[in-house]
Amino acid sequence: MSTNKLIIGLVFGGKSREHDVSIKSAKTIFNALNHLENKKRFIARPIYIDKSGFWHDYESSESILFKEKKNLPIADKKVNLIKNFTNLPKLIEDIDIWFPSLHGPNGEDGVIQGLFKLTGKPFVGSGVLGSALGMDKIAMKTVFKSYNLPQVPYISLDTNNINDSSYMKSIIEETNKIINYPCFIKPANLGSSVGITKAYTKDELLKGIDQASFYDDRLIIEKNIIGRELECGVLGKSIMKTSVVGEVKFDSDWYNYETKYTEGLSKTIIPADLNIKISNEIKLLSLEACKAINAYGLARVDFFYEENTQKVYLNEVNTLPGFTNTSMYPMLWQSSGLKLEKLVASLLDIARE
Ligand SMILES: Nc1ncnc2c1ncn2[C@@H]1O[C@H](COP(=O)(O)OP(=O)(O)O)[C@@H](O)[C@H]1O
Ligand SMILES: [Mg+2]
Repeated sequence: MSTNKLIIGLVFGGKSREHDVSIKSAKTIFNALNHLENKKRFIARPIYIDKSGFWHDYESSESILFKEKKNLPIADKKVNLIKNFTNLPKLIEDIDIWFPSLHGPNGEDGVIQGLFKLTGKPFVGSGVLGSALGMDKIAMKTVFKSYNLPQVPYISLDTNNINDSSYMKSIIEETNKIINYPCFIKPANLGSSVGITKAYTKDELLKGIDQASFYDDRLIIEKNIIGRELECGVLGKSIMKTSVVGEVKFDSDWYNYETKYTEGLSKTIIPADLNIKISNEIKLLSLEACKAINAYGLARVDFFYEENTQKVYLNEVNTLPGFTNTSMYPMLWQSSGLKLEKLVASLLDIARE
């Protein structure tokens, strides 16, 4: 074994709606990197990207991680931007492996993965292609379709055309024909249920389109599935493994932002109470979904399971799933016999494959 410790650039925060969740995930990962065995192999270097996009040094980043400072002062944007890129080469020299603890646009969609790739240093998780395909629901579903993977009927919509009345007429007709009500309207490039609405009428559909178009010009309208929400963890690159299957339960109509992030509004059941045939189907589909979009390293694959028809629908692949100590992904692996500190070390070993 090498005596040289590897320096891990734990990048978190970011210009994203999921900024705060990312900080919580980073804290869990930072602590795991400082766990007994890991400390012998790794040195964790936290790197905080604030909401203006500025990359902070290790010291102030660590203070954010442990809430000593709630928010670092943000200087003039122009100065930040220049500083950002003068800071970067110095960071690149130091870091042996990048560990993105980022969610949503800029962090999970291939943007920062492209930058990591340019530095020539390995990084945790999927590359540019898998990250980009995993983030864009239209692109992801198009690929799933070409692999004949089972998914919920949907139509895609370009908001640049919503002032064209014949275009909108055809969208509404298609919705009536293949989607029906209630339906879901989603921005293609977001997460955490932000911008998503459930529409019960044509008027609500139009309102939902309006709301989603605030976030993205690529939207999807999807058929409502009455089913259980199941999730499976994937880990590995040359050899990809699946975890046990977990379930999310909640009392609200659907798993919206509030339900996701308010304590006590949802609970996770791990492993989910499922017959072996269904859980095996989910595990197999998780691997096929990741391979289809070229996602690797880590991913959480989400499903709907319609019990009365015994049908499983692939919903989405999350290429950088939440990593807080109550997040599904680490809990799925914990229940599969892989403790958090071992999971984090595995991710770094996989990054170097
Ligand atoms: N087709 C659908 N049928 C039933 N519920 C859905 C459907 N699509 C989304 N939902 C509900 O909305 C939530 C968020 O949708 P999802 O597509 O997973 O977006 P995000 O990427 O923001 O997590 C799901 O967890 C589920 O509760
Ligand atoms: Mg989801």
